[in-house]
This record gives sequence, C-alpha cells and structure tokens, in this order.
Amino acid sequence: MEKSTLPRHVGLIMDGNGRWAKKRLRPRSFGHSAGMNAMIEVAKRAKELGIEYLTVYALSTENLINRPKDELEELFNLLRKYFSKHVKQLYKAGARVRVIGDRTPLPEDVKKLLDDGEKNSPDGAAFTLVFAINYGSRSEILNAVNLLRGSDDKADEAAFASKLYTDGLPDPDLIIRTGGEVRLSNFLLWQAAYAELYFTPVLFPDFTPAEFDKALEEYAKRNRRYGGL
Ligand code: IPE
Ligand code: IPE
Ligand code: MG
Repeated sequence: MEKSTLPRHVGLIMDGNGRWAKKRLRPRSFGHSAGMNAMIEVAKRAKELGIEYLTVYALSTENLINRPKDELEELFNLLRKYFSKHVKQLYKAGARVRVIGDRTPLPEDVKKLLDDGEKNSPDGAAFTLVFAINYGSRSEILNAVNLLRGSDDKADEAAFASKLYTDGLPDPDLIIRTGGEVRLSNFLLWQAAYAELYFTPVLFPDFTPAEFDKALEEYAKRNRRYGGL
C-alpha cells in the first residue's frame, strides 16, 4: 500500500460483538473478548502499514448509561486485561496509548490503569493507539464550551479543537464501522467533518487485518475535495 494514499488517522467503531456471540449461542462477554483480540490484530496491522493513529471506540457515554451492569463489568475486565498485560506488547513495538473520554465515573482501578497506560508510553512513537472510553462527542463538545466560557477571546476552530479530548491528534481521515449499522453513534462528530466513512456488515470479531486492508483500499480510491473541485 502506498504511503501517499494511506490515512494518517483511522477511527474504528467496533460494533457487532454481541451479535457475533449470539450467533454462536455464547454470552455477549464472549463476543467482547473476541473483539479485543480482533482489535489487537488490527492495531498491529495499522502500525505495520505506517498509519500514525488508530482510535478505537471501546465504550460510548450511552453504553455506560444504558448497558446492564454485568456487561459493563465484563468490558471493564477487558480494559483491565488490556492495560495490565497486552499494552506491554505495544510499548515493546515502540507505540503509545492515549485515552479520550470522561474517566470520572469509571472504577478507580480502571482509571489508574488508563492513566498509567498513557504515562508509561514510550516517547516520540510513530504509532498511537487511542482508546475512546466513556467517550461521546456531545459531552466532549459541551465540555469544550465550558472550558472556553471564561475567556474573552472569540473561539476559532483551533482554539475550540484544543479543548476537545482529541487535542493534539489530527482529524480522522477514515472512519470504519463494523457490524452493519450505518451511523456514527456520537463518535468524533466535530473531528469527522471531512472524514471518509466506510461501513461493513462484518461483525467486529470477524474484522481481520485483511478486512481492514479492504477498507484502506476503498479509502485510497476516494476523492477528497474539501469543498473544492
Ligand atoms: C460493540 O459491540 C462493543 C460495545 C458497544 C462495547 P456491541 O456490544 O454493541 O454488539 P452488538 O451491536 O450488540 O452486536
Ligand atoms: C457504538 O456501538 C459504540 C461502540 C462501538 C463503543 P453501539 O452498539 O453502542 O451503537 P448503537 O447503540 O447501535 O448506535
Ligand atoms: Mg452495537
């Protein structure tokens, strides 16, 4: 794949874990666990190709409100596992992790693991895996508005963007959603203003690096005009 047609930043809405498990007559947690493995493989592929940022939507603000407590606990357990174990492989490969979203309501030990995960990341890495956890664009935007409120200066796009959780990250070039739904579900609404969107019916645990490549091939054919000709 040519570097010039490669997205710098890919957003990934990892949907369909529950349905994948249901088809196999297994609990939803089985699907989430398989989804984490799929995510790890896709992140490896992204890094290997030279993509700089991969932002994975792991938990939305609405998930935290609307999912049963036991399912949320399973999701926290997967985060615990990732941030205490798997993250080391990422560091070893010279990559960073970053977390976006509101951590305040998360369990204390999870918060600590996420904080440490960021702190222990190597400097100057060429690849960053960004986890969106208790992330929702509307609350992110409101938060930015409240942060800017005290200031007398008129906010411009850059000043506003610097108050978003994604401060310092380039806008996503490509957003992929697995699982067949054709919506953004409150993911990177400001940042995705000119992102290319790719939807696939493949349920997330079946989203292999080869499926990821397909999305990148499709992206490479898109004509990004940004309002021009
Ligand atoms: C996506 O899979 C993961 C999270 C939202 C945490 P789902 O859990 O939404 O799976 P489906 O959409 O019910 O199949
Ligand atoms: C979007 O999936 C959120 C994540 C993948 C974390 P959902 O399953 O929560 O989205 P909706 O409810 O179908 O829009
Ligand atoms: Mg879903």
